Amino acid sequence: MVRILVLNGPNLNALGRRPAEHYGTMSLEQINQEISRKAAEFKLEVEFCQSNTEGELVDRIQAGWGSIDGIIINPGALTHYGYSLKDALIDAAVPVIEVHLSNIYARERWRSRSVIAGVAQGQIAGFGWRSYTAAIEILAGLIQERETDPG
Ligand code: DQA
Repeated sequence: MVRILVLNGPNLNALGRRPAEHYGTMSLEQINQEISRKAAEFKLEVEFCQSNTEGELVDRIQAGWGSIDGIIINPGALTHYGYSLKDALIDAAVPVIEVHLSNIYARERWRSRSVIAGVAQGQIAGFGWRSYTAAIEILAGLIQERETDPG
């Protein structure tokens, strides 16, 4: 079974109470339900972790070494300065997709720089909760392709 780790960084536990024009109205739990539904379509096993602390996200990534096939991460504000998170994603050596609910390039200038983007295979931003389900679909395709053609 292919296992995907879905990570959410600081303040994403508060979705549903954060500004709806940027983040929509769904709670993280509701978004996770949509992710689970999409993952089931592709027969992927998903594990979820949200933390307001960078070190906890690093610990979770390290705990998945050897057993996780791909990572979907919304690093929250750590997107813009989280170097230990970046290193942990490099060390994980699995495909990573960076997601954002909002379009980080259409907001304050400080949000338009991602220190994570360079170590992710790609980024999906601006589609609300659909950014996550799109990432599931893409990751499923990437992993399947890699398994059928490892070279
Ligand atoms: C976010 C964008 C970040 O700039 C912000 O700090 C967040 C959420 C997004 O999903 O749009 O907390 O990652």
